[in-house]
Amino acid sequence: MKTANANHAPREDRVVSHVQAHNLKQKRILLIVGGGIAAYKSLDLVRRLRECGAGVSVVMTAAAKQFVTPLSFASLTQSPVYDELFSATTEQEISHIHLSRAADLLVVAPATANLIARAATGLCDDLATTVLLATDKRTLYAPSMNLRMWAHPATQENIDRLKDYGALFVGPDTGDMACGEYGPGRMSEPAQIVSAIEAALMHQTQLPLPQKFQSALSCDTTRALAGKHVVVTSGPTHEAIDPVRYIANRSSGKQGHAIARAAVAAGARVTLISGPVALPDPEGCQTIHVLSARDMHAAAIAALPADIFIGVAAVADWRVAPVDQKIKKNGASSAPALTLIENPDILATIASSPQRPALVVGFAAETQNLLSAARDKLIKKGCDMIVANDVGVTSDVFGGETNDVHIITSAGVESWDKMTKSALADRLIGLIANQCDAMGVN
Ligand code: C5P
Repeated sequence: MKTANANHAPREDRVVSHVQAHNLKQKRILLIVGGGIAAYKSLDLVRRLRECGAGVSVVMTAAAKQFVTPLSFASLTQSPVYDELFSATTEQEISHIHLSRAADLLVVAPATANLIARAATGLCDDLATTVLLATDKRTLYAPSMNLRMWAHPATQENIDRLKDYGALFVGPDTGDMACGEYGPGRMSEPAQIVSAIEAALMHQTQLPLPQKFQSALSCDTTRALAGKHVVVTSGPTHEAIDPVRYIANRSSGKQGHAIARAAVAAGARVTLISGPVALPDPEGCQTIHVLSARDMHAAAIAALPADIFIGVAAVADWRVAPVDQKIKKNGASSAPALTLIENPDILATIASSPQRPALVVGFAAETQNLLSAARDKLIKKGCDMIVANDVGVTSDVFGGETNDVHIITSAGVESWDKMTKSALADRLIGLIANQCDAMGVN
């Protein structure tokens, strides 16, 4: 039985095993460990992922605990191991829905025939399968089983079905099995799984909701932005100096992410384009992770058409002219000179695009002449609203929990009292929704 459904993520080459030079730093992996003899290899997988800078959370099935102890994984990840669906502690700390969405990628290793079959049929009778069904991210399976179990048409059909649902696979390898037989079914080596994870993370790992459910979610007209597509940029950008160094700024992404969350709560379909931040992806958004201003520029254009664009990101104004090798100290006293090239202005590009959203909102962080600089920006960048804040030395806006802003439109200035970034996000989304109503944006 092979299912084909146009609403599922497009099928692509899903067997990834080649080495990619990709940074796993700050990536979040949710590792689901199934009950197979190869579970011991997953300890090495965790160690390697952690060495690459990835954050790893572990879910174990009951059978997995027959092979390796949760304590081993907890020691390597330095965080609790999740193993129970109905655990008061787990639900208090983190819900199974959040667990399934907070990661950039889910990895099932070892993926036993049983776990594959349960995932393929949508069973959710333990934490591992519930997380697999609830996730909005891609899952990479590393199968591990006896060769007859692997070759069985039932297993192969389950794998085809999972691939149709957007799953990726690495392995299995062919070799000697724990049971004494020889053939395909050995779980890939940890290094190979790390390469497959790196390759998977080079692409978008968010799984879109099937179309019919997207419209079902946005038909609630009681919510202020129901049916609207909102694109938000958030966080800093990193501009490479050479292959190992970069220029960045102090933006934490807290304000941009809060605005994305508020727009989701108001019923919008939200695309969040996030620079490198240490925050979880907000639930209910499509989050696109980018590094540089040019990546963010390309992602913003690709996200159009939209009804509303909110540029919150602290985009680097300049990047460094490309350098292929790490810049070395040469012993001489002179420091290397960096050549800076101006980055594209994302906000101005979107505001002048043929697909211009009905409402374009920018942020202006200034250290002096705040209001006049913000008014200039409103005109120069062609936006409808500028949210201006003072980021001078006495301010704690970058990285802090509160914000203190002035709203500048062609009608004038409105100054808001200091409030939390989340309260500001709600109020700003309310203002934007009113503005959309006034402009007749449907
Ligand atoms: O020019 P400045 O960086 O002060 O403008 C701030 C506003 O412009 C913010 O909304 C920011 O997201 C946006 N911006 C941009 N692309 C740039 C620079 C800033 O979208 N290259």
